[in-house]
Formats: sequence, structure tokens, C-alpha cells
Amino acid sequence: MTADVKSKRCIVTGAGSGLGRAMTLGLARAGALVIAADINSSAVEETLAELKGGAGRIVPHRVDLTRVQECENLIASAVREFGGVDVLVNCAGLNMALISRDFLTKLVRFWDVEAEDWQRMFDVNVRAPFMLAKCVAPIMAAQGWGRIINITTSFGTMLREGNTPYGPAKAALEAASAGWAQELEGSGVTCNVLIPGGAADTPMIPPDARIARNKLVPPSAMMSPLIFLASDRSTAVSGIRIVANRWRPDAPDDENMDRAAAPIGWPDLAAASGVPTKGSVAAPGGA
Ligand SMILES: NC(=O)c1ccc[n+]([C@@H]2O[C@H](COP(=O)([O-])OP(=O)(O)OC[C@H]3O[C@@H](n4cnc5c(N)ncnc54)[C@H](O)[C@@H]3O)[C@@H](O)[C@H]2O)c1
Repeated sequence: MTADVKSKRCIVTGAGSGLGRAMTLGLARAGALVIAADINSSAVEETLAELKGGAGRIVPHRVDLTRVQECENLIASAVREFGGVDVLVNCAGLNMALISRDFLTKLVRFWDVEAEDWQRMFDVNVRAPFMLAKCVAPIMAAQGWGRIINITTSFGTMLREGNTPYGPAKAALEAASAGWAQELEGSGVTCNVLIPGGAADTPMIPPDARIARNKLVPPSAMMSPLIFLASDRSTAVSGIRIVANRWRPDAPDDENMDRAAAPIGWPDLAAASGVPTKGSVAAPGGA
């Protein structure tokens, strides 16, 4: 596993907590060079402090992903630090706790959501991944190698009541990822989605939630599919979503792909609509 991502130059957002922290540590322990980006600098320092041993390196980077300029600076500083970027993991996210502390027990109705909160959620969960991917894609394409990995969520979460604007924001990133993968075809750069496959055992699920913590997906479940996606093993894989808790670290990749992977989004529904997802918008029915 170590050889797969050794010296790969990575950026992980949301590196101060939960899944982002686990993925930052996992990549660095496997020998990657990781820019650990988060708005919470002290949390990233804790991530760094947890790295004991391992051939890789973690470089903390404070970023407020709601700011376009800071997104641009993040990519520029990664290029300055490492001379390029091989892997971008868009993991940082806000969830319904932004809207209500009681969101798990008391239904949030969309008409009670403030416009500013809708905007902040979309800025962190959708615009920031777009900005980072937009800035990094030309760099990766010039290298002829790159990986954009977007962390979305389960389809049920996207459609669930009481989940505006989290669900809609994740659906937007899911849809964007499908288009990006197609636009990157032939460039050597892939775009894929990775999800835990259920509520995960991170601070995003509040400690007082009435959920048995041992029923939650452990952040470590992200590692094996992440290393696969970040490595040469996934060169032919783009436009795919992987469900981490279905991926077995000890199984061969093709078996795992059969069990845990499917095309991003809702391609069956798209096909049934008769409106093409490929080619010019001027194609018949393409508006
Ligand atoms: N935890 C789950 O059950 C679950 C399930 C499915 C998908 N996800 C997704 O996985 C990702 C990680 O979730 P998590 O559970 O690790 O969450 P978390 O709350 O533990 O971590 C999120 C991180 O994002 C950072 N962040 C928030 N706003 C930021 C900003 N403006 N700029 C920079 N960083 C910012 C936070 O500081 C935090 O470190 C999210 O995108 C989330 O939507 C989580």
C-alpha cells in the first residue's frame, strides 16, 4: 500500500477533523506529502501531532474555504511547496449543525433556513470544491496525471426531509463530479466520488446523538479506497463513486470495484430521460 502513494503530492481539506484527519494521516503514513487544509489551525496541529513515523509529511495550511482568494492561494502554495499537485481530496464540509444544534431530533424545515446559512453551506460544500478543482485541473493536466476525489454523501441523505441545505449541496457536488470526470477524459486526470456509506464516527455526528457510536462507519474505512483512488491502481477509473464501508482492504481491486463502486450520480435516470449527458448541449434534447 505504501508504494502506491509514496511521494504523491496531496491536498486534503477538512484535515483538522473526522474523515479529513483520518485521510490526511493515512496518506502521510503511506508516504505521501500532504497539505492539511482547514479553517481550524489548532485542529490541524493536532492532526500533525498524531503523525508519528511514516515516510510522508504533513504541511498545515489554514484556509477559509468560503473565500475564493484563499482557495486559489491554497493551490498556489501547494505548488510552491511541492512543485505540483497530484491528488486533491475535497473533504471539508458543513452539515445541518450549522442550521440547528438539534437537527437530529427536531425536523428543520426549509422555510426556517436563513439565506446566509444556505449560502455558507454551498460556499464550503460546493463552491470550494469547484474552486480548488478549477485551479488544480490545468496543473494536473499539464503533468498528465492527477486525481480529484470529492466526498459527497449517500443518496438517501441528499433527498431526506429536514436536510436543506446539506442534502441539496451534496447532490450538487455529486452532479458536478459526473460532469468533471467527462470533461477530464484523456487528460490523465480522474475525478471520482468517495463516501463513507452511512453516518460516520466523526464530530459531525454530535456526541449526544441517540446513535450507538459502534454502529457508525469508522473514519479508517476511507483509507483503503482512498489509497486506491490516489494511486496508479485507479488509472482507468473515473466518474465512479465508491462506498467506503463496502470496500474490503484485503480483497483484490476488481472484486472491490464490483462490490463498492458504481458510476457517479444517477446515470440510469439520466439515460431514461433521453437527454444526453455527453456531447454538445446543442445535441437534440440537450438543453
Ligand atoms: N460524518 C458523516 O457521517 C458523513 C457522512 C457522509 C459524508 N460526510 C462528509 O464527509 C466530509 C467530512 O465530514 P466529517 O464527518 O469528517 O466532518 P467534521 O465536522 O469532523 O470535519 C469537517 C472539517 O471541515 C472544516 N471546515 C468547515 N468549514 C470550513 C471552511 N470554511 N474552511 C475550511 N475548512 C472548513 C472543519 O473545520 C472540520 O475540520 C464532509 O464533506 C461531510 O459532508 C460525512
